[in-house]
Amino acid sequence: MARTPIVLKDPSRFKDPANLSWERYIALQARERERYQAERATLPADALSYQNVSARYLERAVDQFANNYFSELSATHYIATAAANAPFDELKKSCLFQLADEQRHLEMDTEVWQRAGIPERDWLPAWEAPGTTCRFFRHVLELDDTLEIIVKANFVAEGAAGPGTFAVLADGAEARGDLFSAVNHRARVRDETRHISFARALVKALVEDDPTNLDVIQRWQDESLQLFLEVARGGERAAWWEGFLASYYKIALPLGLRPTSLPHP
Ligand SMILES: [Fe+2]
Ligand SMILES: [Fe+2]
Repeated sequence: MARTPIVLKDPSRFKDPANLSWERYIALQARERERYQAERATLPADALSYQNVSARYLERAVDQFANNYFSELSATHYIATAAANAPFDELKKSCLFQLADEQRHLEMDTEVWQRAGIPERDWLPAWEAPGTTCRFFRHVLELDDTLEIIVKANFVAEGAAGPGTFAVLADGAEARGDLFSAVNHRARVRDETRHISFARALVKALVEDDPTNLDVIQRWQDESLQLFLEVARGGERAAWWEGFLASYYKIALPLGLRPTSLPHP
C-alpha cells in the first residue's frame, strides 16, 4: 500500500457530526427506505414505465443515467476500501454507514435503467463516453488511502454535487416527465448531505491537527476538480458546472482552501 501522505495524529478530533450509533443508523435507514418507497408508490404507472417521456428525452438521458448509476456503483467500492483501511474506528463507522447508503442508491439507479428499457450492454459505453464523470471515479477507485478517498470523493465530489446540483437534476427530470429520477435524486440528497458533513468534519480535524495538512488537501482538491472539468466541456453543462463549483467552494473556502485555477470549460 502506498504510504499515507497525512495522518490525524489525534483521532479524538474527529466525531461523526450526525452522532449516529449503529442502532440509530439502522432505524434511520429503515425510515428512509420506507419514505422512498411511499414516494415511489405515488407515481403514475406510465411515469414508472417511462411511457410518458419523449424518445428524445430518453436518448439524451442515458448519459445522466450512467453518471448516476456508475458513480453510485463506484461509491460502494471506494467507500468499502476506505472502511477497510480506516486508521481509527470512529472513521470506519462513518464509512460503513455510507456503504449501506450507497448500496441503496445503486439499487434505485439500477431500477431506472431497467424501467426505462435501456439494455445492459449500453450502460458501460455510455459511462465511458467523453463528458461523463468516469475519469474522476476511475481515479478514486485506484486509491487505497482512506483520507485521500474521503477528501476527494466525499468532500470535493459530493460537496460539489450536492445538494444544489441534485435539486437541479430533480427539477430538470420532473419538468420532462421523468418523475422516477426526480424521486431518486431527492431521496439520495438526504444521505449525501450526511456524507458531506462527515468529510467536512474530517478536513476540519486534519487542518486543526496540523495546518500543513492543508497543502495536501489542496492538492487533492485540485486533482479532483481537474478530473471533473471534462464533464463541463462543450458548454451544454455550463450552468451545472457553475453550481457545482459554487456549492463546493461554499464548504471549502471557510476551511482555508483556495479556488483551483482552471481553464474556462
Ligand atoms: Fe450515493
Ligand atoms: Fe454519497
